[in-house]
Amino acid sequence: GQVLNTQSLGRVIELNEDLPSTNERAKELARQGTVHGQIVLAKKQSLGKGRLQRQWESPEGGLWMSIVLRPNLSLADATKITLAASVAVVDALKELVNLPVGIKWPNDIVFNGQKIAGILGEVVGEWNVVQTLILGIGVNVNFPRQRLGDSFSAVTLYELLGYELDLNILAAEILKYLEGELISLEHKEFQELRQKWSERAIGLGEEVRILRGDQVLEGIFKGISIDGSLLLETVDGEKSFSAGEVRLRSK
Ligand code: BTN
Repeated sequence: GQVLNTQSLGRVIELNEDLPSTNERAKELARQGTVHGQIVLAKKQSLGKGRLQRQWESPEGGLWMSIVLRPNLSLADATKITLAASVAVVDALKELVNLPVGIKWPNDIVFNGQKIAGILGEVVGEWNVVQTLILGIGVNVNFPRQRLGDSFSAVTLYELLGYELDLNILAAEILKYLEGELISLEHKEFQELRQKWSERAIGLGEEVRILRGDQVLEGIFKGISIDGSLLLETVDGEKSFSAGEVRLRSK
């Protein structure tokens, strides 16, 4: 497309009217051997997937996108790609609409405590054999908040801005920033990404609650460690938690 300004991401694009989930479709294409950077888009999803087995409401007007990535990274580093994606979404929104959104660990994009976008990374097959990650990005763009059901913790860009955004331009901006972050990750420059992520993070230095199953831990949110997990300063010292393991709540 004319708006796309990337080397490898989004050079092959599949646009669907309606899919259960773009992540599932991207997995299928990945298993068939599609190229690094293939994009799958859907105007709406009937079974959109969120993190932690949640459902993701995906009405028409949102940006529902999955990217097939075959990065030159270890599996441990692959999880950092979802952090890179959250930085890319924040930077794209800042550049396009100058909206100061932040990241709620690990990779929710939030404005005023309300979620605008989410990211779901899923590994396909065995990492050592195929090194394939499906990166799903969902952004609540051009529809009223009511279409998300009665969730008051979510909001759409349309509600915040009062006008509609071009989904292709938004996708292209996100891909541009993401490609830059991926290149630096492949050059082992995680410190840079960690710094950028921290500058955009919400709640750093604040008291938070961490939910691990039924367990509640309290402490000060110190940031992310060199492997991307959450650092919590507790009365028993510093502890780290991976994104699959715990949920973060403000106090
Ligand atoms: C989350 O915050 O829980 C992650 C939400 C991820 C949603 C996107 S929309 C495009 C892609 N396809 C899916 O089924 N999920 C992701």
